[in-house]
Amino acid sequence: MGNKFLEGNFAPVNREHTITGLSVTGHIPEYLDGRYLRNGPNPLSEVDPATYHWFMGDGMVHGVRLRDGRAEWYRNRWVRNPRLARELGERWEGGAAAGLGANTNVIGHAGKTLALIEGGATSFELTDELDTVGACDFDGTLPGGYTAHPKRDPETGELHAVSYFFGSGNKVQYSVIDAQGRARRTVDVEVTGSPMMHDFSLTEKHVVFYDLPVAFDSEQAVAASVPTALRTPARLVMSALVGKVKVPDPFGAKLRQRISGNAGLPYRWNPKYPARIGVMPREGGNGDVRWFDVEPCYVFHPMNAYDDGDTIVLDVVRHPKMFDTELLGPAEGPPTLDRWTVDLAAGKVVEERLDDQGQEFPRVDERLVGRPHRFGYSVSTKDGSASSGSLLKHDLWNRSVRSREFGDGAQVGEFVFVPSSVDAGEDEGVLMGFVYDPATQKSDLTILDAGTLETVGAVHLPDRVPNGFHGNWVGNQG
Ligand SMILES: [Fe+2]
Repeated sequence: MGNKFLEGNFAPVNREHTITGLSVTGHIPEYLDGRYLRNGPNPLSEVDPATYHWFMGDGMVHGVRLRDGRAEWYRNRWVRNPRLARELGERWEGGAAAGLGANTNVIGHAGKTLALIEGGATSFELTDELDTVGACDFDGTLPGGYTAHPKRDPETGELHAVSYFFGSGNKVQYSVIDAQGRARRTVDVEVTGSPMMHDFSLTEKHVVFYDLPVAFDSEQAVAASVPTALRTPARLVMSALVGKVKVPDPFGAKLRQRISGNAGLPYRWNPKYPARIGVMPREGGNGDVRWFDVEPCYVFHPMNAYDDGDTIVLDVVRHPKMFDTELLGPAEGPPTLDRWTVDLAAGKVVEERLDDQGQEFPRVDERLVGRPHRFGYSVSTKDGSASSGSLLKHDLWNRSVRSREFGDGAQVGEFVFVPSSVDAGEDEGVLMGFVYDPATQKSDLTILDAGTLETVGAVHLPDRVPNGFHGNWVGNQG
């Protein structure tokens, strides 16, 4: 049985490279001093195409170091965890860890490089050169898993996040990690059940929760990860946990281990689950959250959000459904760019479509997280969240969109914006991301002028970078 998330440029690569002397076409701006890093699934061992879910592959981080107008190195490394280290024949000294190797995002914070994942699985600290140091729980201040989508407040440098884990029942956790890398505040927030809450939104005044109808499915979890003979009692145990019981460790840790290992995803579309967004003042608590109904849908990724008088503007990539009939990866109709305006006075959400072409991986200038943005960038996609051939630049003032194509069959990953200086204008700088060329079966780190979308330079890599998830520019200053 075929699985498109194992084919073409979704297929994993089987080598770790350390390459210096990279060839470059065009020009690498001198102000780029740092690393472009990107994470994604890359299963090490053979997986079963009938059950392999794209979100469940072992993590691999790809990185390119830029300095003084040159590309100093390219490295790709599996994110180790105890199981992966064992499979690679390595000693593991990185501490206890649950779930998959972190495969979803990679960030820099408080001088550390962190490979991130969600859903109760352990995130990992990496060295500057992408080797795994060990499990990350923010110096013990935030045990139990984090999220792949923290937001850095551009004012304070703090990381805000919402974490979920089915074993926490009907609670998700909002957290603030300070600029030194320790949690200074956590708030447990009650939701309907056990949703997959992949991301959230942050404004200058508010935290926004997306409590949408993709929820933990105990039968799916059991089918994917437990031998047939054990399924009935295991299903009972799982069902008892969902939405009701706080899982004590080490039992919870065992369950987390069970929901791992390149198998199916234990979350599915649940038509009975209400679609709501929750709005909490930043310094508020569970009792302060106001809930607003929206049309049933799923949102992996907001583009950005901001306060505007008595309203909150949420630009989101909206999927009409998720994991209903397609259970191996996101592919349930075209995800569109929508604007949800939360009217706090009237107590309702106005939903409008900004762009009806399929797209994913929305990003803005990180200096504007939680503030009004004019420009946003996304990747056009024809089949869900899979990468595709063009990059979109949205002008949300003029309500217009421009497209940059990359040639026949090119596969485009998420692009990130890097300003040319701290006080550069909103699209004064570059966009960078990986572009795969099927003719050469290799990828480039492609650098575009964010204003014009013209190519500035390209770093040619010795191998391909499989279609993956999220990346970031980790600058050496700031
Ligand atoms: Fe994501």
